[in-house]
Amino acid sequence: MKTLVTYFSASGTTAALAEALAERLGADLFEIRPESPYSPADLRWTNPLARCNREKIGSRDVPVKELPDLTGYDLVFLGFPIWYYGAPNVVNTFCKGCGWAGKKLALFATSGGSGIGKTAEKLRPFLPGGPEIVGADVFRTQADLISWAESLV
Ligand SMILES: Cc1cc2nc3c(=O)[nH]c(=O)nc-3n(C[C@H](O)[C@H](O)[C@H](O)COP(=O)(O)O)c2cc1C
Repeated sequence: MKTLVTYFSASGTTAALAEALAERLGADLFEIRPESPYSPADLRWTNPLARCNREKIGSRDVPVKELPDLTGYDLVFLGFPIWYYGAPNVVNTFCKGCGWAGKKLALFATSGGSGIGKTAEKLRPFLPGGPEIVGADVFRTQADLISWAESLV
């Protein structure tokens, strides 16, 4: 089974988990990078005018620098921080740009305390081709993520 680990991370927590996962699985790794990177001020959700809040309220697309070619991958792990109890808008935009037909998709997230909630259901409309979502959860440690992932490959 050919596997891709792809992730968005604004402040490094999800990136560290994604890198460890890809290394353990021997999978390819692809970082989702917004065309315009987030500054610390952009992420200050306590400020109603911060970029993160403007994007969320306007349900805005957040253009990404590059999209991967998913041809040949059977299973894609997609990691991101929980923002407002779901995936960040940049992940929605990324998902819309990829072809998911016939793929298995596993969602892993990091958070400040929220669980995965309805994250998978909220992401589904942004997944053209309707992949099979084989798992979705929030993780705090590499060990927990890796043992969950190894049960899916
Ligand atoms: C704009 C924004 C919204 C967030 N919303 C939530 C949330 O709804 N629930 C939660 O537990 N954490 C929330 N967080 C915290 C992040 O999910 C958490 O810090 C995450 O591990 C950051 O991952 P990263 O370093 O890979 O970006 C939010 C953070 C930001 C910047």
